Amino acid sequence: MKTIVKKINEENMEAGCLQEAVSILQRKGLVAIPTETVYGLGGDALDAEASKKIYEAKGRPSDNPLIVHIAEVDSLGELTKEVPEKAYKLAEAFWPGPLTMIMQKSDNVPYGTTGGLNTVAIRMPSNKIALELIRESGVYIAAPSANTSGRPSPTKAEHVIEDLSGKIDMIIDGGAVGIGLESTIVDLTGEVPMILRPGFITKQMLEDVIGQVEVDKAIIAKSVDPSLKPKAPGMKYKHYAPKAELTIVEGAEQAVVDKINACAKQKMEAGYQVGVIATDETFARYEASIVKTIGSRYDEEQIARGLYAILREFDEQQVDVIYSEGFAESNLGQAIMNRLLKAAGYHVIEV
Ligand code: TXA
Ligand code: MG
Repeated sequence: MKTIVKKINEENMEAGCLQEAVSILQRKGLVAIPTETVYGLGGDALDAEASKKIYEAKGRPSDNPLIVHIAEVDSLGELTKEVPEKAYKLAEAFWPGPLTMIMQKSDNVPYGTTGGLNTVAIRMPSNKIALELIRESGVYIAAPSANTSGRPSPTKAEHVIEDLSGKIDMIIDGGAVGIGLESTIVDLTGEVPMILRPGFITKQMLEDVIGQVEVDKAIIAKSVDPSLKPKAPGMKYKHYAPKAELTIVEGAEQAVVDKINACAKQKMEAGYQVGVIATDETFARYEASIVKTIGSRYDEEQIARGLYAILREFDEQQVDVIYSEGFAESNLGQAIMNRLLKAAGYHVIEV
């Protein structure tokens, strides 16, 4: 299949620029779209055949449900059995934006979209291209991240082209995303709302609006604990992973630098290409085959934005092993460390 790639400027969209994408979605094809979090691989959420194509293109296990993207809060009525009061409050506070809510699904949503579950994940993205495409097509867009299953999520159209060119109908290039990590997922089907995946919208931000919120224990664990099964099916996979073996080194700043340099030296002497994910504060102190800075360690938003791209760059440069500094787990840091730990298969050295 030949994949059409089309550049569209979110801030300056020409009339009719989405027409091709609209007609592809309406005839149940697949279009990769920019969102504010990561690029998504979109298809008609209410059509089981379109969902099936999404799973095939990504090589995604079919028990891993998709997120349904909407453009109006009113759409909740059509997609869910009932809308909890807290959902309206959260929608009011955070939509359009990087928050996904889980509710009981209505019969309109096929099991092919929800991975066989009776619940459905719903999000209203803030990216203007995504919103306009949902409105113009009249299609609720099911969209997982637009990467091959298991690879880091795409934060630029180039990443989507790398993974999915030739496998889908179209890729909309809307430039680099703003946030860089997938949306926060909150499950509203239980007594107390529960975060199933941390993201830009933090626990504190949710609690300010709806009171007590829990966090799925499996996602804050520092190691793989087989007794803790993540409640979001997708969180159980080793995920977000680069091809190289990634190790996180945590501890006091200079001790971390010394440890990473010692490990890198050993690996390089054994003939391996070694990459280091440094920060602006430590960059100059490393010696390895390739050292990249992810930005200042005090700028969490910059780290989030750059994380997946750095992992992909190292893949391209064919390093064999990567060492990364660890990051503080306050605010957005919890989401950053969640993704980094998964990418590392929970391989952490404490110094
Ligand atoms: O920011 C995002 O959320 C991006 C953009 C494209 O919107 N999408 C995204 O989708 O990250 P995906 O498919 O890569 O991740 C969806 C996650 C998976 O971990 C999946 O298991 C979980 O959401 N999920 C979806 N429906 C669920 C449900 N009904 N119950 C529990 N978890 C669910
Ligand atoms: Mg994903």
